[in-house]
Amino acid sequence: MLTALTFFSMCMAALAAVPPLTVQDNSQIIFAEDIKVPVVLGVMSRCPDAMLCEAVWDRVLQRVGDKVDISLSFIAEPNASDTAYGVTCKHGLEECAGNVYELCVAKYHPISEWWPFLRCQNFQGRDQIGLPETAVSCAGTAGFEWEIDQASLCAGEDGQGEEGVKLLQESVQNSIELGIEKSCTIMINGKQVCIRDGTWYECEGGHTPADFIRQINEEHNRLNGID
Ligand SMILES: *[C@@H]1O[C@H](CO)[C@@H](O)[C@H](O)[C@H]1NC(C)=O
Repeated sequence: MLTALTFFSMCMAALAAVPPLTVQDNSQIIFAEDIKVPVVLGVMSRCPDAMLCEAVWDRVLQRVGDKVDISLSFIAEPNASDTAYGVTCKHGLEECAGNVYELCVAKYHPISEWWPFLRCQNFQGRDQIGLPETAVSCAGTAGFEWEIDQASLCAGEDGQGEEGVKLLQESVQNSIELGIEKSCTIMINGKQVCIRDGTWYECEGGHTPADFIRQINEEHNRLNGID
């Protein structure tokens, strides 16, 4: 970490010393930025397996969070007869609302805030996920004020805000396109590496935090040409 920072500030100092920018300077900038490993968790907000999965990834992110670009992809069934969401969530309307809260917060906040928001929702217990009061208190825990936030406009008062519903529909579509059917499905750099659904399975590289940390380090090295 220290080395990367030192290198970065060295680059910036060098750039500042030789204006204007040349092509060579540009390539230095590209070289200084590392490529993060895309991670997708296919989840449903009120699903115990998803909550377990997220707890495991909480430990992973503590160690290799700076190497990862993580996102949630929600699983639900498209349903034109559902007037509120246009999809049916397995654990009810409150789960759809919970999904919307998580998507809206992730859209308008950096990972340093939306992940703590997600963790807080899970800590409240399954049956609190998707309730407006949970969103308000978890925003506080995550370090922002719900009432005056873009995310609350997105989610609406009851998790049925227009923008939030659209985000949920797009997320459900994304899961379908990625072939994600089980909550929780873990994808690292576009490859399905593990499923937790009642039990762990199809986890060739293992399913403990240490296993995922190792896989992230390996993939990060590969993506950045480090052997
Ligand atoms: C579709 O939504 C309607 C209205 O919410 C519901 O009654 C019905 O059970 C849903 N269908 C499926 C397949 O989930």
